[in-house]
Amino acid sequence: MTEPKKLFIKTYGCQMNVYDSERMVEAMGAEGYVTTEVAEDADMVLLNTCHIREKASEKLYSDLGRLKPLKAARPDLKIGVAGCVAQAEGAEIQRRMPLVDIVVGPQAYHRLPQLARGTGPQVDTDFPEEDKFDLLPARKARRGPTAFLTVQEGCDKFCAFCVVPYTRGAEVSRPVDRIMTEARDLISRGVREITLLGQNVNAYHGHGPADQGGGDWTLARLIRALAKVDGLDRIRYTTSHPNDMDDDLIAAHGDVPQLMPYLHLPVQSGSDRILKAMNRKHTRDDYFRLVDRIRAARPDILLSSDFIVGFPGETDSDFHDTMDLVRHVTYGAAFSFKYSARPGTPAAEKPDVEAEVADARLQELQALITSQQRAAQLAMVGREVGVLYEKAGRQPGQMVGKSDHLHAVHVDDPDGKVGELVRVRVSGSATNSLSAVRIS
Ligand code: 5AD
Ligand code: SF4
Repeated sequence: MTEPKKLFIKTYGCQMNVYDSERMVEAMGAEGYVTTEVAEDADMVLLNTCHIREKASEKLYSDLGRLKPLKAARPDLKIGVAGCVAQAEGAEIQRRMPLVDIVVGPQAYHRLPQLARGTGPQVDTDFPEEDKFDLLPARKARRGPTAFLTVQEGCDKFCAFCVVPYTRGAEVSRPVDRIMTEARDLISRGVREITLLGQNVNAYHGHGPADQGGGDWTLARLIRALAKVDGLDRIRYTTSHPNDMDDDLIAAHGDVPQLMPYLHLPVQSGSDRILKAMNRKHTRDDYFRLVDRIRAARPDILLSSDFIVGFPGETDSDFHDTMDLVRHVTYGAAFSFKYSARPGTPAAEKPDVEAEVADARLQELQALITSQQRAAQLAMVGREVGVLYEKAGRQPGQMVGKSDHLHAVHVDDPDGKVGELVRVRVSGSATNSLSAVRIS
């Protein structure tokens, strides 16, 4: 018997890329490839890239540089670039880095096996008519109890700083029946928690199943249907736009027990002037009112957000408004980034804020966010929460999993098993995790 071929895959960027990487591994699995953690052992190296900020993009080129000696020693090694840099820079990647054999965009990766069989440079950055999800192999056996499930791709919002509408294309929602089939399949393989993914997931509008009258389903309706599936204990979704939080979705946070009390709701800035320049189409007051409604539905929900500092034209006073918004909302966690001009986006035409000023603002904002994150963790101490065990911890007899509120939790539980959903009482808070004692 011949040895199976080995695939090394590295994933950059968001959770949608993590999902896409899994599906590419499965697609190559059907071709006889198994994965390896060691690039040196691989027959194919695949880099699934992110284009959101310049730094993320540049990582691709430095990683490709590091692969040069490997490719020189083994010219038959296939090197592939997938994801959003592949989409945005296409054949340009092969011009800059001739060692790259395959360039495949996020909408064309069902054709990866075919590209891998080809000889010579292969590029596929189409937005094909066919739906890649219909052509990918069914989900394979999984080890973990949690899974991502992409329900929506692309974005029609065109925030002035963002490349997503260009790299991932227009908003497309998968039909409800396909999502339900994939969810049931995952659950039958031991998954108990599903995170529904989309660049703008709460803008989801998918065809309803024919036997339920078809029509147009919202994310809330999809969540309510998933909550009825036996064996699915937890539902999350990300990433959301404030303007797409409809009444039913907010209500679902109050009345669907499986929908976990954590919501990533990026606001980007606290300044009305900057929100307008960013083309966000909402004000800071709109956001405050929305947060109030969400908290009225689910008082213990933890909120998180993304922030950009140093957007072109951002003054001290604008930044002050962002700090003020963060103090007002109080987040459980948040991500903050220094603005990075992206080619082809409207904001890239405008002059940048001085780098030192943007750096100082980023530090100040991150310090505030860190203090809020610590406070949110401390407030959990003494509380009873659910934890889904994902793996054994570093200490003997310890299990690690996520709480309902998405905190990493360490539990001393020598009898604990991966995939168990247990009740715990939180006993302590460390830098980035909680410790807890099992009570059921
Ligand atoms: N510069 C900095 N941050 C960006 N993001 C998106 N585009 C840019 C950019 N050009 C951030 C936003 C978004 C998150 C995924 O990345 O905050 O919500
Ligand atoms: Fe980018 Fe804005 Fe769309 Fe989010 S909503 S993907 S930030 S354009």
